[in-house]
Amino acid sequence: MERIFIFDTTLRDGEQSPGASMTVEQKYEVAVQIARMGVDAIETGFPVSSPQQFQACKMISENVKGPVITALARAVEKDIDIAAEAVAKAQHSRIHTFIATSPIHMKYKFNKPPEEIIGMAVKAVKYAKNKAAEVEFSPEDATRSDLPFLYSILEKVIEAGATIINIPDTVGYTIPQEMSNIITAIKNNVPNIDKAIISVHCHNDLGLAVANTLAAIEAGARQAEVTINGIGERAGNAALEELIMALSVRKDLLKYTTNIKTNQIYNSSRLISNITGLEISRNKPVVGDNAFAHESGIHQDGLLKHRETYEIMTPSSIGRGSSDIVLGRHSGFHGFKKRIGELGFVISEEESKRIFDKFLYIADRKKEVYDEDLITIIIDELGMSSSSYKLEYFNILSGNTSVPTATIKIRHNETVLEEAATGDGPVDAIFRAIERAIGVNAVLNEYKVHAVTPGKQAMGEVQVSISVDGVDSKGRGSSTDILEASAIAYVSALNKILLSKEMNNEKN
Ligand code: KIV
Ligand code: ZN
Repeated sequence: MERIFIFDTTLRDGEQSPGASMTVEQKYEVAVQIARMGVDAIETGFPVSSPQQFQACKMISENVKGPVITALARAVEKDIDIAAEAVAKAQHSRIHTFIATSPIHMKYKFNKPPEEIIGMAVKAVKYAKNKAAEVEFSPEDATRSDLPFLYSILEKVIEAGATIINIPDTVGYTIPQEMSNIITAIKNNVPNIDKAIISVHCHNDLGLAVANTLAAIEAGARQAEVTINGIGERAGNAALEELIMALSVRKDLLKYTTNIKTNQIYNSSRLISNITGLEISRNKPVVGDNAFAHESGIHQDGLLKHRETYEIMTPSSIGRGSSDIVLGRHSGFHGFKKRIGELGFVISEEESKRIFDKFLYIADRKKEVYDEDLITIIIDELGMSSSSYKLEYFNILSGNTSVPTATIKIRHNETVLEEAATGDGPVDAIFRAIERAIGVNAVLNEYKVHAVTPGKQAMGEVQVSISVDGVDSKGRGSSTDILEASAIAYVSALNKILLSKEMNNEKN
């Protein structure tokens, strides 16, 4: 088994994603989490680009122990000086310096001949070598560079002291076999390549970043540059979670180890998404909402009989909860019955079949049958009395100088329950007031909000995930007012738990 070093550039290339800027404190929080996950190197930023970037790199260097701490610098002294100052206190410091080597970049960005570019690269590496424990060099746009020129510049920078040679596919242009050939050619044509570690840095413009990274590893690269959730310039970088799980799931063919604790992947992914506001698409491999969700009856049945029929890894291996049986028109009886059980209902086989027919009728007319729909079907079909709680009214007092306070009215049969509560924010105040009115204590596990229609009058949808006495429940609500959507979602999640308890008491 050969060791692959994981270089995480979420805080540098990832932060270059439009809209992904993070504050100093947020970058620090991410660095702590990815260090916990076991990455070997953290690229903290591009310190010369702003005082905030500099501060974040410095704070991480001073406080995060374990991984190599690195910062990016163009091949110019000013950048290197600032990067060096930013990583000076790191336990293991590295300066990552780069210059473009493709004909198109050298002509249009620098208007300099190739020999001058080599001179700048060598000078930068020598300069950086005196300022940090180690130096990494990247020939930007390497995969569109002239190969003999690439060999020559790599040989010279290794001579100058670079010990990590990174090969970036800057514009995500390469295909896997080509990437493999480039790494092999570098190994065969750069005479002193054994004095450096070959690294690879792939962008995802053609959706090939992870495939190219794997091809480079197979050809001899031993450091992989990746980002969490694959965020990065344009279409992003190779996604850490995809690369790591490919190495883990296919260890029969890929004989490599890393230091990554895979059960920290999901936490890290959620943290990045929450901090940057960059949503993870539902079908994103490994960390997307649908990655372990099964809707079709054949798949649900197979999964419930033997998980490996339709899952190549377990959700727990990446630190997330159990697989999801999603109820829709493709679902079968097996998955349907399991869901009813999870909701806490104890129903006979004959009743279940009757309810299943009704469920199929609804499922044919709706994209997804939510738990609240299922509960309504059960109540109707079994003629049980339902006493769900309904939001009648809410009022919020909030501002930057006042304590957020919520007043709420909830109807329960003929009774109107009225309560008020304060909270850390308006949403917290509403949730507390609802709990007081209903008389329960819930733990909020997840709160998600997103716009479901465009424009200023957008409908917002809120999804909450809660637990009461160890029983989990989810609820959703939509409104043009996010606070109202939050209140509806919370009441709906509580209703599910309270209703199934109540109905089971009624039956017993
Ligand atoms: O994509 C790229 O070329 C880079 C370099 C700075 C390594 O991000
Ligand atoms: Zn990049």
